[in-house]
Amino acid sequence: MPELTPHDALAHLAWQIELGADEAILDAPVDRFALDTVPPNPVPTPAAPEPAPAAPTARVIDATEAARTAAGAAPDLPALKAAMEAFAHCPLKDTARQIVFADGHPEADLMIVGEAPGRDEDAQGKPFVGRAGQLLDRMLAAIGRDRQSPDPDTGVYITNMLPWRPPQNRDPTPEELSMLGPFVRRHIELAAPRALILMGNAACQGLTGQRGITRLRGQWTEVLGRPAIPMFHPAYLLRKPGEKAKAWADLLALQARLRDIG
Ligand code: URA
Repeated sequence: MPELTPHDALAHLAWQIELGADEAILDAPVDRFALDTVPPNPVPTPAAPEPAPAAPTARVIDATEAARTAAGAAPDLPALKAAMEAFAHCPLKDTARQIVFADGHPEADLMIVGEAPGRDEDAQGKPFVGRAGQLLDRMLAAIGRDRQSPDPDTGVYITNMLPWRPPQNRDPTPEELSMLGPFVRRHIELAAPRALILMGNAACQGLTGQRGITRLRGQWTEVLGRPAIPMFHPAYLLRKPGEKAKAWADLLALQARLRDIG
């Protein structure tokens, strides 16, 4: 095998990170080519019949019901966070480092619902702190909003549809969105913002049942009786900077709406 240059090695690493292999799972690397554990021409043994899996829908419905009960019993945001931490039905919890509950001003008149934590959010326990989050902060600054503002009229409150990072940053499944939806809806009720941004497809699907952000963006809708505007996710805008003008138009529409209802 030709010797790997440092440049090639770096490119291989970057490629693996792209594919989602972004965490070490053992202390030392294992050269699986050097392992001689597979016998030559292994004789296939007939697989034991597997027990029929439980119907997934029934499981998801039970878990969704459990989430609804736990969320409904939470009288305030700290109780809601505790209820989510105690929720035992979501396997994402086992692979994530920690819960990512929210960031910003809980009484802000504007609340953003994103998709799910990525690697940086999982490490820091806060939503939107990676590259997409930095772009989000710049977008919000353009309309005079800052998640660190102590003033509810210039602050913003941020959460996600999923509070735990999906492995390899894969998209949330419809089952996960449905199971964890009651927590997000209770989160919105308790924070009681005047308006919502649905950041990307997962938030639209989880809170309105609709997908197709290219069609939905900029079209006001209602979530729990509050005006909500679907917008392009900043991660999408990082990949497609040509779409930023549309996001800018949506931000201006949002700013005008907040002034009207303010
Ligand atoms: N993307 C999201 O939707 N949420 C985050 O917290 C980070 C990236």
